Amino acid sequence: DKGAYPYYMLKEIDEQAVVARKIAGHYFDEDGNLQGIPCAVTDTIQEADRLYIVAAGTSYHAGLIGKRYFEQWAKIPTEVHIASEFAYDQPMLSEKPFFIFLSQSGETADSREVLDNVKKQGYPALTLANVMNSTLTREADFALPVLAGPEIAVASTKAYTAQVLVQAILAAALGNPGFDLKAELAKVAVEIQAITDEKESFKKIAESALKDQQSAFYIGRGLDAAVALEAALKLKEISYVQTEGFAAGELKHGTISLIEEGTPVFALLTQKKTAGLLRGEVAQVAARGANTVVFASESLAQDGDAFVLPEVNELLMPILAVIPAQLVAYYATLDRGLDVDRPRNLAKSVTVQ
Ligand code: F6R
Repeated sequence: DKGAYPYYMLKEIDEQAVVARKIAGHYFDEDGNLQGIPCAVTDTIQEADRLYIVAAGTSYHAGLIGKRYFEQWAKIPTEVHIASEFAYDQPMLSEKPFFIFLSQSGETADSREVLDNVKKQGYPALTLANVMNSTLTREADFALPVLAGPEIAVASTKAYTAQVLVQAILAAALGNPGFDLKAELAKVAVEIQAITDEKESFKKIAESALKDQQSAFYIGRGLDAAVALEAALKLKEISYVQTEGFAAGELKHGTISLIEEGTPVFALLTQKKTAGLLRGEVAQVAARGANTVVFASESLAQDGDAFVLPEVNELLMPILAVIPAQLVAYYATLDRGLDVDRPRNLAKSVTVQ
């Protein structure tokens, strides 16, 4: 039931703060110790020499963020793969691979095909799914809940942030983030709420930047490049504005030729190491007439930025950085008079290959 909300998507965007708290409550006890991840899972992963995250669409984008946690905190080399590609062109695997399937529905046929294949080869697999007791959770050796609650809108929002959060927790169980993850997640929940409270800002941004536009770009570097992919998917799939998300450093290798007077270029700027370079790229597209819209974290923000993101640990910033993009996609779609929850040609659960 969407209650007072006009669309499920907006309700689900708003639920993200509650979901973050629910996940923290499930996976941490009162003393701040991790719970809810069986030793069999962590022991089996510790025996592996490489993780292979396999997923589709938005879940694949969540995997790109998770890779950072598994590599940086758990020190396990991690590859992220698109399920439909992996299924028919399996890359060369390490000696002791461990597979992680990420899925909201747990029914995605492309991911199921890969799980079938890797099981036949005898490799262990864990599914992180929002729908438990789904095919992917039943058929993997292990399953952990993503706990986003029912997601009805075709465009995935809270399942993405929940998948990122649960991967962070799993990586913390395998290694050491070097900070108090539980405390930081409490902060993340507060700041998600602070952003979703600013809906009017994103409504205005969507109106001014995207009105009458047929194409748009999202750029970022590092983790922000991964969020840019998800941000672009969100905008294009419901508003039908053709949107490309990519690593900002690639602009000069081709895409910058597409920039015209008024082209909307959204920049996600939350990673300190590359903030200067990204500012340069924003200036370059602005000089060619782009309408630049910068979402920057507090310590990196400058005058003229469209929205200042509250600051949490830099590796957790993707959870906050995606929310303006979700809201911009929502309002741009609303402006066009389209059905936000049910974009054309798409199904919530893709059970065919
Ligand atoms: C986009 C979206 C899709 C799904 C993809 C995988 O908003 O929802 O890209 O993420 O079809 O679905 P799951 O996560 O159910 O395996």
